[in-house]
Amino acid sequence: MERGTADWYRQFAEECKDQSAIFEDWALGIAEDPQIISLIDSLPFQKRQPNLIFAVSRLLGAPVSEFAEFRTWLVSNWQQVSAEAATRSTQTNEPRRCAALIAALGLIEEPISLIEIGASAGLCMQPDRYSYQFGEARLDPVSGPSRLLIESASSSSVPIPSAMPNIAWRAGVDLNPLNVLNDTDVKWLETLVWPEQRDRLERVRLAIEIARLDPPRIIKADALLGLKQLLELAPSESRIVVSTPAVLVYLPYLKRMELVEEIVSRDIDWISLDALRVLPEVDAKLQDPKPFQFTLSMNSNPLANVGAHGQFIEWI
Ligand SMILES: C[S@@+](CC[C@H](N)C(=O)[O-])C[C@H]1O[C@@H](n2cnc3c(N)ncnc32)[C@H](O)[C@@H]1O
Repeated sequence: MERGTADWYRQFAEECKDQSAIFEDWALGIAEDPQIISLIDSLPFQKRQPNLIFAVSRLLGAPVSEFAEFRTWLVSNWQQVSAEAATRSTQTNEPRRCAALIAALGLIEEPISLIEIGASAGLCMQPDRYSYQFGEARLDPVSGPSRLLIESASSSSVPIPSAMPNIAWRAGVDLNPLNVLNDTDVKWLETLVWPEQRDRLERVRLAIEIARLDPPRIIKADALLGLKQLLELAPSESRIVVSTPAVLVYLPYLKRMELVEEIVSRDIDWISLDALRVLPEVDAKLQDPKPFQFTLSMNSNPLANVGAHGQFIEWI
């Protein structure tokens, strides 16, 4: 059943607490504003998403200020906002999620062939090219410290790899791959970062710079089809790892389960990062499910509670 748009925006305001006062204010304002809700309800369901409406508005020059001013802008620019939303989707690419991914990759035999489903611009396909600070412990690429240092508040039980996992081959699939060499794509990636989050923006920019030195191979395809194509290409002498961070929620349930069945039917490893209710089999194994957090799982077993953007890792 489709949920009400006002509730959707109210819940988004909750998610924004302590992360973006501006988006929290906009989302609460919209939730209480029947005129704006009816504008948003004129869009197809998937396009009513708060993150999408706000990012598209900012891309088109909305004032990043209090709700009353944003509202005036939104009403006068609604035609452009709805046209732009029709062509875009949220493709937030968060390199900080690599802190959780690299801990999980450290548990797998090497060398690794990494296949990411829902890769966006591929910033989570190069976890071995970033440096990490997990509390006192630091992990650097084999070639030396990276320009991007990812800091993640971590419980002491996180199994930090003693050396950077060896990713010998990598490829991704996305419905709409973003190209780190294309300025429009880069602008969209930057706009998807919430307004006050300067450190996130800085991380995305550094990760893009790193990716530009050796742009990731990302094929344009739907998840299942793309996965099958990439499994044909991955070198057989390496351990294949499929990663699905923050993407499965976008697949309708039956399609998601079809993809999961395909993955688990193969002799490969699977790392995922998902909110609650995305993978019921993983949720069922959680002793203390946490709303608004992600679960890091490997082969359907929960490993850690993780901040949605990789801010913290609490190993289970
Ligand atoms: C929120 S982004 C996550 C990007 C990246 N995995 C990360 O964690 O930073 C989700 C990505 O999944 C892609 N996506 C959504 N549905 C898909 C599908 N059915 N097949 C392939 N990619 C899909 C979107 O285009 C988008 O780039």
